Amino acid sequence: MARIVGGLGTSHVPSIGAALDKGLRDTPEWKPFFDGYVPAQEWVREQRPDVAVVVFNDHFNALFLDRVPTFAVGCAAEYHPVDEGWGPRAIPPFEGAADFAWHLVDTLVDNHFDPEIIQEIKVDHGLQVPMELFWGRPPEAWPVKVVPIFVNVLQYPIPRPDRLYALGEVLGRAIADYDSDERFVVLGTGGLSHQLQGARAGFVNPDADRRFLQDIAHDPGKLAGWSREQYVETFGGEGAELIMWLVMRGALDPEVVVRHRHYFVPASMTGAGMIVLENA
Ligand code: DHB
Ligand code: FE
Repeated sequence: MARIVGGLGTSHVPSIGAALDKGLRDTPEWKPFFDGYVPAQEWVREQRPDVAVVVFNDHFNALFLDRVPTFAVGCAAEYHPVDEGWGPRAIPPFEGAADFAWHLVDTLVDNHFDPEIIQEIKVDHGLQVPMELFWGRPPEAWPVKVVPIFVNVLQYPIPRPDRLYALGEVLGRAIADYDSDERFVVLGTGGLSHQLQGARAGFVNPDADRRFLQDIAHDPGKLAGWSREQYVETFGGEGAELIMWLVMRGALDPEVVVRHRHYFVPASMTGAGMIVLENA
């Protein structure tokens, strides 16, 4: 049976990828941010996961307002990075884990989650940036297969936080039931606090971000019980992306240990956070 080696949470700010593209990793502005990920990269190297289930949102790069799946699962053999307007990035395509993805879809539908099934799509910074933060940029191919889970956090109504936590619980069972000796890691991406537009543009809430990085480990039920409005109020309009971390947390056991945690503000306009969790 397959095994979850842990859960990873991280921001997915696009300028992180741009900074790496431009060779800015060790500049005074960026070094403290990237240095915080070094222990997490070591953890990933030690754990050698075979499959990464990546919970993220597309930002109107591969999907647009003409079709907005609340949940979608990628069942493709391969995912190319989408060009977000600055030209193609020098990162390899991501190999899909289609067999597990179909098993996941089966398990979700059996448990009253009915996702859109996607067999061809490109992936934006929401997936690209977390992969590069945890695995580094590989010269040829990523050393891990991916299963993207797309969540709508842009077009209201976005899904309820408790629903995402429940989806994570089903994901955890789907991994545990999967007939394979592969090692799985689950990534929750987005956040932390940021608001990119409107009257509160530039809003960040470092105190709430730091508390979130505690609670996602040790009091996830509280975070799952919050309303969407509480997320927007506390973390900003786009900070509501944080609900996607609940899928990652729901896939883990009730008791977890925090292996690594990092917080840096601001990366672009965002409170940037990272966490590495293992089942206790
Ligand atoms: C920023 C953050 C995001 O999560 C995102 O998707 C786009 C932009 C930012 O802070 O610039
Ligand atoms: Fe985002």
